[in-house]
Amino acid sequence: MPELTKGHWLTEAVETEPKRVVYTAEAIDHRVREIAQEITSFYPPDEELLVLGLLKGSFIFLSDLVRAINRPLHVDFVVASSYGAGTTTSGNVKLLYDPMAPIDGRHVLLVEDIVDSGNTINRLAEALGNRGPASLELCALLHKHLATDLALEPRWVGFDAPPEFLVGYGLDHAEDFRHLPFVASL
Ligand code: PRP
Repeated sequence: MPELTKGHWLTEAVETEPKRVVYTAEAIDHRVREIAQEITSFYPPDEELLVLGLLKGSFIFLSDLVRAINRPLHVDFVVASSYGAGTTTSGNVKLLYDPMAPIDGRHVLLVEDIVDSGNTINRLAEALGNRGPASLELCALLHKHLATDLALEPRWVGFDAPPEFLVGYGLDHAEDFRHLPFVASL
């Protein structure tokens, strides 16, 4: 278990700090490989799969996940943001970048770091669903199960997450802590 001490992962300049490791790098690695195997066998091998990473939060999860999926696929990104520097969603999900890749007729797998209020997924499910994908599925590393009206339930979930603000492995607080190789709570 990595120690959360100043000078290692944390700097003197950061006021808000991770307090507890919730998922270790080893636990994440194990779970990512399990999910990748399930995804590999889920899609018909001769049909096109587009893996869409939702930036910025999914960048580490996505890169680990696609390297463990054993079938042809393409990768593109969507950029959405709603949290800014706070720990609660603004409710206003901004779509800052649309995928270049065509959606129509392809199996689309959206990869998200965390489903929290569900606002981001609800906005994206509508935007992507309207573009005629052969299928639209969601894979989320973390799911808090707080949203009561999710437009798209994740087919694959890494971990059912506690109702705490989580950082690391792509997740940030005011842009800090994305590079931590584990997930921790503030
Ligand atoms: C975070 C996180 C998810 C989303 C989940 O993104 O990465 O995409 O919020 O929260 P929700 O279910 O309440 O919508 P954020 O808007 O902070 O942008 P980021 O990915 O660039 O960190």
